[in-house]
Amino acid sequence: MTTRYARISSAASALPARVVPNAYFETILDTSDQWIIERTGIRARHFSGATESTATLAADAAAQAMERAGVSPQSVDMLIVCTCTPERLIPSTAAFVQARLGMSCPAFDLNAACAGWVYGISVADAQIRAGTADRVLVVGAEVLSRVLDMTDRTTCVLFGDGAGATLLEPGEEPGIIESMLALDGTMAEVLTQPAGGTAEPVTEEALKARRNFLRMTDGQAVFKMAVTSMASACTEVLEKAGYAAADIKLAIGHQANARILTALGKRLGMDPGRVLIDIASVGNTSAASIPIALDRAWRRGLLEPGDLVLTAAFGAGMAWGASLFRWTAPVRADLPPVEDESQAVDA
Ligand code: ACO
Repeated sequence: MTTRYARISSAASALPARVVPNAYFETILDTSDQWIIERTGIRARHFSGATESTATLAADAAAQAMERAGVSPQSVDMLIVCTCTPERLIPSTAAFVQARLGMSCPAFDLNAACAGWVYGISVADAQIRAGTADRVLVVGAEVLSRVLDMTDRTTCVLFGDGAGATLLEPGEEPGIIESMLALDGTMAEVLTQPAGGTAEPVTEEALKARRNFLRMTDGQAVFKMAVTSMASACTEVLEKAGYAAADIKLAIGHQANARILTALGKRLGMDPGRVLIDIASVGNTSAASIPIALDRAWRRGLLEPGDLVLTAAFGAGMAWGASLFRWTAPVRADLPPVEDESQAVDA
């Protein structure tokens, strides 16, 4: 019996129409375009409009990923929506996405915050290798703009909205080679949205104290832990798979901060040209960040079949992980070009 592997056969992304440059924050906060660019590498991000939500962005990205692969929604066996900003608390975002796309497969949400897509890929890989599913859609989708405290300059300038979708199918060769997942729940309070769940429902008091918004108590600690955790996760998957950093064509870390990614590349001893930094016009889109960056790298012609790709993520939980895979989708000249919206004016 031949071994069955999982491989990524398609990717796509969707960003809201509205582009919000750093200049917008200069009008509402004590901050500057220069500070944000120098400390994070972010020049602009997309914020959702009234008709856009986590489910609409996820569905748009998923529909494009399936179309690019020539796969019908009815032929997909499982849909995993990785998000920490769900459409509603009940039911899952996946329920809305499934209905929008006319799918009929089992579907569920997965919340590992910024590490969501790496977790999702690992689940999809196991489902396909076990023979339980043939086609699995893993979508990272977030509308962080609706949980940002626009009076808190230490968080609101960092994040953006968007969705990235990846389609996984079986193959005779890997595909997904190795993954590792980790979480340290003792750090849960460091990055959290305190009110809105069962522990602290949204009350007038909670709203007054702005506890329904995202809070980060120690950005520098998050920064350091992001670098060390992603580096150790990358080293672990490389060692387990018997590869070296020099074998990697492209490292796609969670796009939280350009300085985090530069530090990660240095720790791994990688040529900076192989560490993707694609945060300038997108910002930190949490679980959507790696699949968005992957789609944009594919569209830019940075990936060819057989290339080794190393992905790593770190976020609230604190949750982290890494996934090593061979890119198997063909080079496609027909995909839409990647536009750089970082200099665009707020619409
Ligand atoms: N504009 C201007 N000044 C600011 C801003 C801002 N938007 N935000 C913070 N500052 C100020 C601080 O108040 C501080 O002022 P002080 O010296 O008077 O106290 C000063 O800038 C330096 O603050 P630091 O926190 O030391 O700045 P640092 O260089 O660490 O950058 C940042 C802050 C960008 C948040 C960084 O720590 C970081 O990226 N951390 C990772 C956090 C992250 O990405 N979280 C997202 C979720 S988790 C993840 O995705 C990995």
